[in-house]
Amino acid sequence: MTALPYFSSARHDATLSASLRRGVLDGLSASPKTLPAALFYDARGAALFEEITQLPEYYLTRSEHEILERHAADLALLVGPNAALIEFGSGAAIKVRYLLSALTSSAAYVPMDVSREQLYAVAAERSLEFPDVPIMPVWADYHEPFTLPELDPDVRRVGFFPGSTIGNMEPDQASDFLSRIRETIGDTGGLILGVDRRKDPRILHAAYNDKAGVTAEFNLNVLSHLNREYDATFSKAAFRHRAFFNDSASRIEMHLESVTAQHVRVAGQSVHFAVGETVRTEYSYKYDRKLLDAVVSAGGFKVVELFTDERQWFWLVWLEPK
Ligand code: AVJ
Repeated sequence: MTALPYFSSARHDATLSASLRRGVLDGLSASPKTLPAALFYDARGAALFEEITQLPEYYLTRSEHEILERHAADLALLVGPNAALIEFGSGAAIKVRYLLSALTSSAAYVPMDVSREQLYAVAAERSLEFPDVPIMPVWADYHEPFTLPELDPDVRRVGFFPGSTIGNMEPDQASDFLSRIRETIGDTGGLILGVDRRKDPRILHAAYNDKAGVTAEFNLNVLSHLNREYDATFSKAAFRHRAFFNDSASRIEMHLESVTAQHVRVAGQSVHFAVGETVRTEYSYKYDRKLLDAVVSAGGFKVVELFTDERQWFWLVWLEPK
C-alpha cells in the first residue's frame, strides 16, 4: 500500500494544549468569565455533538444536508472542473461527499484537521470511495498558519467551511478568518460557506435547549473535561446549562451558571463564582443578509450565490474574491 502524501504544518500537540490552557486561565480570570469553545470536543463531547445533530430540535445539520443534496450539482458547476477542494476542519468528512460525487473531475481533496487519527482514517476512506481524486490530508489547526500541498498553478482552489462553524466566531474574527482563506485560495478561488440564518427566536431557543437534555450535557461536559485535563475541581451539580438568543447581537449564547457561591480550583489557581454568575462557553451567530454581506466583504469576498433549504433556515453560500 502506498503511503498517503503527508503535509503537516500543525504545531506540536503540546503547543496546542498550551495555548488552550492559556485560553482557559485567561478566560476564567476575565470578567465576565469565558471558556474556549474548543473545550467541548473531547471524546465524550464529540459523541454528544453527534447526538445533538440527530435531535428533533437541532435543525442545522439536517438543513445543510438538505441543501447539499438539492444543490450539489449547482455547486459543482460553480466550483468547475480541475479544482482542489480544501476543507477547513474536515472532521468525519461526510458533507464533502455530496460535492465530490457531483464534481465531474477534481484536481484534489485537501482535508485539514487537528485530529490526526481521524484525518488519516478519513483520507483513506475517501481515497477508496473516490479513486480518481487525489486526497492530500493536511494535519493542521486552521486557526494557525498552515502550509498547503503543492498544487498546479492552473488548479482552482476552492475552500469548504460548512456546519455554521463560522458562527462560533465574533463578526470581526470571522472576517479575519475569511481574509486568511482569501489569501489561501488566491484571486481565482472560491469558498463554500455554511451559515445558520436568523429566524424565530423560539426555534433558535429550542435548538439549544432540547427536551432530552443532550445540549445541557454537552455544555456541562466542559467541566468534566476541565477536571480531567486541567486538574480542576468542578462539580457538575453546582452549575446549570443556560442558552438564550441575544437579539441585539444576533447570537445564541451558551453559559454555565453557578448555582451557589463557590471556589473552584483550576490548574493550580482558585476561581470564585458568585451565586448566579455565569461562564460563557459559546457564541453561535445567526446571520441575516446584512450581517453576512458585512462579514464577507470585510473578509475580501462577495456573495455570488445563496442556497437555502425548504424552510429557509440555513444557507450554503458561494463566495468569490471581490
Ligand atoms: C458546531 C458550532 C455549529 O453552534 O450550533 C451545538 C455547536 N453548540 N449545540 C452550533 C453547538 C450547541 C454548533 N456548531
